Parts: sequence; C-alpha cells; structure tokens
Amino acid sequence: MVTVPVEASPLEYTPAVERSTAVAYNRLKTVIPDIEWPVHAPYIAAINELKRELNAILLVHNYQTPEIFHGVADFAGDSLGLAQQAAKTDADIILLCGVRFMAETAKILSYEKTVLIPDLDAGCSLAASITGEDVRQLKKRHPGVPVVTYVNTYADVRAETDICCTSANAVQVVESLGVNRVIFLPDGYLGRYVEAQTDVELILWDGTCEVHERFSAEEIRDYRKAYPGIHVIAHPECSPDVLAEVDFVGSTSGMIKHVGESQPEKVIMITECSMSDNVAVEYPEIEFVRPCNLCPHMKRITLPKILHSLQNLEYEIKLDQNIAERATVSLQRMLEVGSN
Ligand code: 13P
Ligand code: SF4
Repeated sequence: MVTVPVEASPLEYTPAVERSTAVAYNRLKTVIPDIEWPVHAPYIAAINELKRELNAILLVHNYQTPEIFHGVADFAGDSLGLAQQAAKTDADIILLCGVRFMAETAKILSYEKTVLIPDLDAGCSLAASITGEDVRQLKKRHPGVPVVTYVNTYADVRAETDICCTSANAVQVVESLGVNRVIFLPDGYLGRYVEAQTDVELILWDGTCEVHERFSAEEIRDYRKAYPGIHVIAHPECSPDVLAEVDFVGSTSGMIKHVGESQPEKVIMITECSMSDNVAVEYPEIEFVRPCNLCPHMKRITLPKILHSLQNLEYEIKLDQNIAERATVSLQRMLEVGSN
C-alpha cells in the first residue's frame, strides 16, 4: 500500500498568503477556528497557484472538509456531478478529492488525461464488497437480467455492468431499461429505497456503506424530540428504517439543493459529517444540527496531500484499457439518462 509522506515542515503564513486567501477565509471563518487558518492558508495558496500552472482541475466531493471544499475546489458536487465534469473538462490533469472509485470514474470517462488522487488508499466499503467475478457469477445465475451498478464500485465491476447509476439517478436508470427485473449492485439499502419507488423487481447484493449504516431510526426520533420542528434529510444509503423517519431523501447534491430551496429554520443531514459544515457556510441563517459519522476514506484527503499530489503528479489512476473501455459503456449510458 502507498504511504504518503507527511510534510517535513509546514508552509509559512506570510502577508502575501494572507492576502491571497482573504476571500476564502471570509467564507470559512464560521466553520474554521481562527487559530487553524494559518495552517490551512499557505496550502490553499500554493495549491491554487500550482493548479493554474499545470492546467489542472480539482474535482471535490461534497464530503471533503471545508478548507478543501471552499478553499481549492474548481467544482464540488456529488458522484454524478463529478462524473459529468470529468467527462467534459478540457484541463490536462484531473485531481480528484474524494475516494478511489470516483477517481476511477474520472479516468474511465477521460482516459487520455492524467487523473490523480492524493491517497490511493481512499477506499469505500461498498466498492470493497463486490468484484467483477461476483458479477459474472450473478449473471450466470440470472441469465438475461440486466445489471445496474452503483458507481461506488471499481472498474472491473462496471465492466460487467449494463448501466451504472448514482444515488441521484438510480430510479430513473432502473426504469430506463424498460424491463420487469434487474440485478442491482452492490448497495442493498439503496436498492431497497429504489424498489420502493418503482414496480421493477430488484435482485440485490448485501453491500452497505459503513458510514450510513450506523444511523438508527431511534436516533432520528431522539433528534426530533431534542429539536422540535427540525427538518430531517437523509442519504439513500441509510437503512429503510431510518429513511422511514425522515422528511426528504436525496443524493449529497440533492440534499444541498433541498436545503437551499426549502430554507428550513433547523435542519439535520443524516449523512457524512463534513456535508453540514460545507452547507452551513452557504446558509448562516439556518441552524444545522450536526451528527458526526465521518467517512475514514474521504478523510484521507488533506491539503498537504493535495499539494504533494500536484507537485509530484502522484498518485496516478491507471486502468487496464480493455476494462476501462467496457466500463465506459455503462458509465456513458448512465450519463445519457442524466439527472441533477
Ligand atoms: P453521492 O453520489 O450522493 O455524492 O454519494 C456518494 C457517496 O459515497 C455517499 O456515501
Ligand atoms: Fe463509501 Fe460510505 Fe464513504 Fe461514501 S461514505 S465513500 S459510500 S464508505
């Protein structure tokens, strides 16, 4: 496994750095303590300068910490948004601040480009739950039944897939096939959420997200008692018991959009910790109750590792061309269905 070197000495917080990061600080001061800013700011300044020199684009997932999300992102969004951007960018380098399956999506959709991730060990419990061989076995057991795969999977799984989906378009993707039965992989909870929205029968796998499976229905009921009138929104990777207790279900970007449109007085986002911090920056008038289940894989990405990644053009995503070509078909079909 890859070990990312820790910076020998932190970068200096000079007056020039202070000036060049003043706009970012103004946005972030409600979620980042004053004392931390001199640590983050020099990295933000150095990353923003280097990415311009390299013609690199930084695609940042909604679960990244606020100093990354608001400090260095060229585009921030959910898995579908990141895929759409990766497919259309004319940058020479795509640096993905998220987990490895997201960087693989970018590489598959922009195979000729250099795609970097600051830490190759940024995994995902869903992606780790299934292999290409598992999918081949399933297809043998259910001949002729099309396979819909959540993008939280690696290239070998997508290569065995008819069409990919994300949490933003899973229902539309399943219905786009016009069949009565599909194999839906690998998130069992997302599958059960989709099943409840459609007449199509789903053959499910039992993968789970190690972050979302930790929320319980009882916890949601306790939040409602502690914060009367609170608006509760959740990601569809949560269990059906949890989703039965909430007011809105959506992808990470769907949840952000919903907060902006509904402007609740008090809100709780049943998802990864950093989301609430990132959205709270945009809506200082809304009270965010912030349960903290963090994704250890997302949290492997830090500003020093992003800078290291740009300076050394590491760590490059490399995929077998044949697998990437087969995986492109399922991803492109998903992009044609669209949504967001
Ligand atoms: P989104 O596609 O909704 O951003 O979700 C990705 C993810 O990993 C959620 O845990
Ligand atoms: Fe994977 Fe869950 Fe982390 Fe999302 S939050 S990357 S599904 S482990």
